[in-house]
Amino acid sequence: MEKLNFIVATKEIVDELFEFEKVCFENKPDQFSKRSLRHLIVSPTSRTIIIRNEKGKICAAAIGLLRHFKIPSGRIYKIGVLTEFARRGVGTALIEEIEKWFKNSGMKKTCAEVRESNTPSRRMFEKKGYVETKTLYYFYAGGENAAKYWKDL
Ligand SMILES: CC(C)(COP(=O)(O)OP(=O)(O)OC[C@H]1O[C@@H](n2cnc3c(N)ncnc32)[C@H](O)[C@@H]1OP(=O)(O)O)[C@@H](O)C(=O)NCCC(=O)NCCS
Repeated sequence: MEKLNFIVATKEIVDELFEFEKVCFENKPDQFSKRSLRHLIVSPTSRTIIIRNEKGKICAAAIGLLRHFKIPSGRIYKIGVLTEFARRGVGTALIEEIEKWFKNSGMKKTCAEVRESNTPSRRMFEKKGYVETKTLYYFYAGGENAAKYWKDL
């Protein structure tokens, strides 16, 4: 895989990120509003990491959340790679980058929810050591269940 340049998003790119989401996430409820994206970008307990292609366009992004619970844990809230860059290890590299931030921020665990039908994403998380722990029934708008994944950091 080519060397990837991870960029921490700033609020100036909200419009661009919004457009990226419309292409990357086929389920409409999975596309965040500009307001939500702006909030996630500026919140100190959240980080949005993007990757740009050679033309400067966003081709992949991931959002992580810090949760200062009794056992501090990070949550990979969202991750997406455009189809033309799929299967090159980009999603995996984004997980690793977010996990690095989680660890440096004192998180002991990391978790994610994935649509039950989303085999690519499930395989990706499983390959990175995430273990399915339970089913979250009717988790998504439209009623699809989520598989909940956890991993120790
Ligand atoms: C899921 C997604 C992020 C994967 O990104 P990616 O950059 O293609 O993933 P990687 O190249 O790092 O793949 C890692 C592993 O995941 C699995 N995987 C990825 N795509 C797969 C597919 N289409 N079918 C089956 N397994 C797949 C494989 O095990 C793969 O390892 P391998 O290529 O060595 O076999 C990407 O497909 C995507 O953005 N999908 C649309 C948005 C989405 O569903 N996001 C997840 C929401 S939780």
